[in-house]
Amino acid sequence: MATITDTTDDRITARAQEIATTEMARLLANTTASKAMFERALHSMPGGVSSSFQLGEPYPIYLRDGHGAEVTDVDGHTYYDFHNGFGSMAVGHANPIVAEAIEKAARTGTHFAVTTEAAVALAEELCRRFGAEQVRLTNSGTESTSSCIRVARAATGRDVICKIEGSYHGHVDQLMYSVLPGADVMGGRDEPATVPKSKGVPAGMAQWIRVVPFNDADAFERLLHAEGDQIAAIIMEPVMMNIGIVLPRPGYLEQMRELCTKYGVVLIFDEVKCGATIAAGGAAERFGVQPDLASWAKAIGGGTAIGAFGGRADIMDQINQGAAHQGTFNGNPLSAAAALATLTKVLTPEAYRHFDAMGSRLSGGMDESIATYGIPAHTIDLGCKGCVSYRRDPLTNYRDFLDTNTDLYLASYPWMVNRGVFMTPGDEEQWTLSVQHNETHIDRYLDAFAEFCAALAN
Ligand SMILES: Cc1ncc(COP(=O)(O)O)c(C=O)c1O
Repeated sequence: MATITDTTDDRITARAQEIATTEMARLLANTTASKAMFERALHSMPGGVSSSFQLGEPYPIYLRDGHGAEVTDVDGHTYYDFHNGFGSMAVGHANPIVAEAIEKAARTGTHFAVTTEAAVALAEELCRRFGAEQVRLTNSGTESTSSCIRVARAATGRDVICKIEGSYHGHVDQLMYSVLPGADVMGGRDEPATVPKSKGVPAGMAQWIRVVPFNDADAFERLLHAEGDQIAAIIMEPVMMNIGIVLPRPGYLEQMRELCTKYGVVLIFDEVKCGATIAAGGAAERFGVQPDLASWAKAIGGGTAIGAFGGRADIMDQINQGAAHQGTFNGNPLSAAAALATLTKVLTPEAYRHFDAMGSRLSGGMDESIATYGIPAHTIDLGCKGCVSYRRDPLTNYRDFLDTNTDLYLASYPWMVNRGVFMTPGDEEQWTLSVQHNETHIDRYLDAFAEFCAALAN
């Protein structure tokens, strides 16, 4: 028998479908220059974009510039930006401190492929902030996670890598498994299947990958019991951030830490999204668990292409013992200067207090609208990062994400963009705040979201 909540949710879903149709028509009518740019770009780039994460349906919005917490699209519409470069722009756009650092570096030599003092100072700051003994610099998150895996395999002499079902760690062959797998192929809850995400990945690669559910240390222990002596590392986001946000259950990260120590498995935290956003020292600081290795990118660079990885000196020493780590642009002076300015002058303790205040204003205000209108949704607030997921209860793992109401997301995206709030084009993403967001920006989001909830409940 249908409960009252079921019928209310059905009504809200039907209303969301109507809203999606009318709001998307309005969005498309207002973005004709983006459509023209898309048609032009299709000739030179697959899908008309530089990365498949930048795709949009039926075409993406193309941006022209950004200042502070605002971005302007090629049609000339200015939005308050909550997409924020998929979490890279905690400094806000055209941040004057970062711009000055880049400009100064540009005038004194943009690249040498020789280590500079800025790169050394950046490595020191990364070690200090993230509690690492040694780090190396890269150009992206993908390079950072791949490099962690290389040194973990070298340190243990083992080949198998374990990852969490539903997580994304970059688009290299060895990590493109069970990233948002379909319900028809994902296997049983306790023993998820190893599902390739991309065409072009050699079938034999799967023999080196194992997949376990998030928030389930028992499943990881069963795997270690069966084949722990084969497993080099587990790579995991300590808080999952590519399916909305999934918090670790109390004690879960500590259990994972203990199991890794017991079985000699390298614990790798992928902090590409949470490092330098959810706390100065990322998830390791916020949740109080130290990994053996970690990868960082996105927000550490203030909008430049940089990444880093590091942790225990005895493991990083594998790079001196024959584990290859190279890269022409590693430690590039422009990105090293930008990252150093970002971490030492912009993302200060004051910045994290600001994120906490803005984040709780945003999620607190949204929670009020969700409660007032009975919307099947919840918010998660981690200061600089947060999200709304269209499910009444918080998610505990990837399988809960499959239970979210995509109709509500599909209605919310054009609704918010049409009201001047720029969002990520996918229900698995979150918002990112910057030091340049203030109450005016937050309140625009809150007003648009309150109207959205009212329209859904109407
Ligand atoms: C958790 C996580 N790890 C790694 C990556 C890959 O980073 P990049 O896109 O800089 O290569 C991403 C990118 O979104 C990510 O979210």
